[in-house]
Amino acid sequence: MDKYLEIILIGSGYYVCGKNKNNYGTILPAILSFAKLNSFKINIVVGINKKNSAETFSIKIDQLRKILSVEDLVSYEFIYCEGSPVNFITKYNSKCDLKAGIISVPDHLHFLWAEHLIKSKIPLLVVKPLTLKLKDSIKLFNLSKNLSTPIYVEFHKRFDRQLKFTKDSFQKGLIGDPLYAFTEYTQKKEVPLENFKNWANFTNIFSYLGVHYVDAIRYITAAVPKRVSATGQKQFLIKHGIDTYDTIQCNLEWETNNKKRFNQIIVCSWIESNQSSAMSKQDLHLIGTNGRLDCEQKDRGLKLLTDNTATEDINPDFTRMYSYNESNIFEGYGIDSVMNFINNIASNYSQTKDSRLCSVKESLFSTAVIENCFKSLKQNSEWIKIDLNLES
Ligand SMILES: NC(=O)c1ccc[n+]([C@@H]2O[C@H](COP(=O)([O-])OP(=O)(O)OC[C@H]3O[C@@H](n4cnc5c(N)ncnc54)[C@H](O)[C@@H]3O)[C@@H](O)[C@H]2O)c1
Repeated sequence: MDKYLEIILIGSGYYVCGKNKNNYGTILPAILSFAKLNSFKINIVVGINKKNSAETFSIKIDQLRKILSVEDLVSYEFIYCEGSPVNFITKYNSKCDLKAGIISVPDHLHFLWAEHLIKSKIPLLVVKPLTLKLKDSIKLFNLSKNLSTPIYVEFHKRFDRQLKFTKDSFQKGLIGDPLYAFTEYTQKKEVPLENFKNWANFTNIFSYLGVHYVDAIRYITAAVPKRVSATGQKQFLIKHGIDTYDTIQCNLEWETNNKKRFNQIIVCSWIESNQSSAMSKQDLHLIGTNGRLDCEQKDRGLKLLTDNTATEDINPDFTRMYSYNESNIFEGYGIDSVMNFINNIASNYSQTKDSRLCSVKESLFSTAVIENCFKSLKQNSEWIKIDLNLES
């Protein structure tokens, strides 16, 4: 008997299907790889707000269906909704009981779409950050609980082997009690200037990028964030008409289950030179009373240099296509995270096989941090207390 799933996909941008030639993003490659590896028939219902998005999406998915040899397994259709979830729901006619929603729209629109889809009892995966405001994330948490319909947040670093190793080593007590952690995370100027120029000023570099390492520390240590202070600079992007911070430096204090406090410093920027040898420069260092764990996440030891291209630092672990039998498959922690969600839905929300996926409740910690980081920036870098009472 055919296994059949319907995926409601909101957003068809860079993260869904890529921008340039030979770049296919992460979400479509993950959905198609899941269909191939599990012989699942999947129909993707795409919410489209602009006509040319449908054209780009069709080109990318048709190429991918061929590349992965899944023409028989994966189909798609569009719902033109002009950016409105109400229009989408009105036009949406479900053909299948087993369904899953994936939301990948600009950061400030996550809440609008998630609220409407969860009210229709569609289990959701929302790209990070869940929302920019804590009260919105709490609203989604309560809706999810009351409707018995899960919401997960796509913090894909939870699936990176470096962080899995770090979590296991930390939990075994190898480095003792944590004292401090630090990260520098940057992306090229082309990200705010070209890719996200329409919405870069509705979010900030910490909410968009730095938040990954907030969730990473929560995942590794199970600690709770207690207070935050931040500084930021506006010099480059503002001159290009984008009113948002170029870089943000965030100082965050955590408390472990046994009441030990430690510090995390995250320095993030999206004005790295476009000549950088990788899209992201990133690392994580966690220092404890008995040792340290250092994750170098840009230079993973794999480089490509040709007569036509400068040296590129390749990340073979995130989202990458590899040859597979006579065809191809995508692998990596970006793919694993989305496939884990689909698998979870296909097996009736059973997370017992792999509990790394970030639940809506877990994501409240990172949303609390980004909201209060922004508050600190507006209040002359004051320390802002984070008081997250999850029972309320
Ligand atoms: N690019 C990445 O590597 C990456 C990685 C992880 C997560 N994310 C997150 O994914 C989300 C999307 O990022 P992206 O890189 O695809 O951005 P993008 O700007 O390339 O794509 C955004 C998509 O949302 C659509 N959209 C805009 N307004 C809409 C509305 N009102 N209703 C419905 N659709 C609307 C756009 O048409 C476009 O298809 C962001 O929250 C980002 O933080 C991106």
